[in-house]
Amino acid sequence: MNHQALEKTALAMVAADRGILAADESNATIEKRFKGPGIPCSEESRRAYRELLFVTPHMEQHISGVIMYDETLRQKTKDGVPFPKHLADKGVVPGIKVDKGTKDLVNYAGETITEGLDGLRERLAEYYGLGARFAKWRAVITIGQAQGGWWLPSKFAIDANSHALARYAALCQEAGIVPIVEPEVLMDGDHDLARCEEVTDAVLESVFDALGQHRIHLEGMVLKPNMVIAGLKCAQQASVEDVAVATVRCLKRHVPTAVPGIAFLSGGQSSELATAHLSAMNALGKLPWHLTFSYGRALQDGAIKGWKGEAANVQRAQDWFKHRALMNSKACAGSYRSDMEKALVA
Ligand code: 13P
Repeated sequence: MNHQALEKTALAMVAADRGILAADESNATIEKRFKGPGIPCSEESRRAYRELLFVTPHMEQHISGVIMYDETLRQKTKDGVPFPKHLADKGVVPGIKVDKGTKDLVNYAGETITEGLDGLRERLAEYYGLGARFAKWRAVITIGQAQGGWWLPSKFAIDANSHALARYAALCQEAGIVPIVEPEVLMDGDHDLARCEEVTDAVLESVFDALGQHRIHLEGMVLKPNMVIAGLKCAQQASVEDVAVATVRCLKRHVPTAVPGIAFLSGGQSSELATAHLSAMNALGKLPWHLTFSYGRALQDGAIKGWKGEAANVQRAQDWFKHRALMNSKACAGSYRSDMEKALVA
């Protein structure tokens, strides 16, 4: 195993003032995102949309890596350049989502396990050949109450998902690919900030225990967690400052300093709130890891809505994406302010 190459890639992914674009929606998920603005979902419309993002002028100033879906990794710009090569030529690390989504966990109603380990070694070898240098696997943890009345998540579901994440991470590192380890505690529900912190604590403890047991080279991975945040239906939403303090407190308890960086998912937060939270965390003072973004919806919502599937709107969509990337870059330095939104909108 080439630890040095893994470390170099991981550091590039979390380089100062840059973050990751999660453009790895499955075909079913991107179809849902296209539905609002009425964009027909086809192989070509998906390609055209991803190209729009990837050729945005100077996006590499703020974007360090892009996570793609299997189909996207094999697609090309209209000039015939494979997306992974186009990105790598700009200094953006190409990545690939390798999990196969969640399935119901038998005997644990309301909980899921992420699948995709079978044949993963062979798929990773192919993805490396196609230019991918990092991968992503998302485990999903739900807070709530099952039909039988017991509280979720169960320790069993947390540990089963941690085990799968660690097996995936080991296979990635064997293949020379940096694993993004993504245990997502969902924002759905009416739980408060304290409950999210309690669950995120338990999840991160389990994840790093499993990573340790699988002898993962921590310097060659990136953690992609949720922020500690109240549920979307909670009547008492926490302040930006409270979210920042709780999230950093939770991470400090569990994430070894050997891990080079933490790249948050946005998880259903509005674009501006996801930026504000990240900035508030980075403004708290020096931390042992780079704290950055790996947003999907929060980096794309306005781009999809602005594009509407029409060539005439490409620049409008790119302007939105570039502005969001810039705002999040400021957040990496802890210097984002909401009045920059108006000042910098194209
Ligand atoms: P969101 O930022 O939309 O949560 O997506 C990030 C991601 O990659 C989820 O797996």
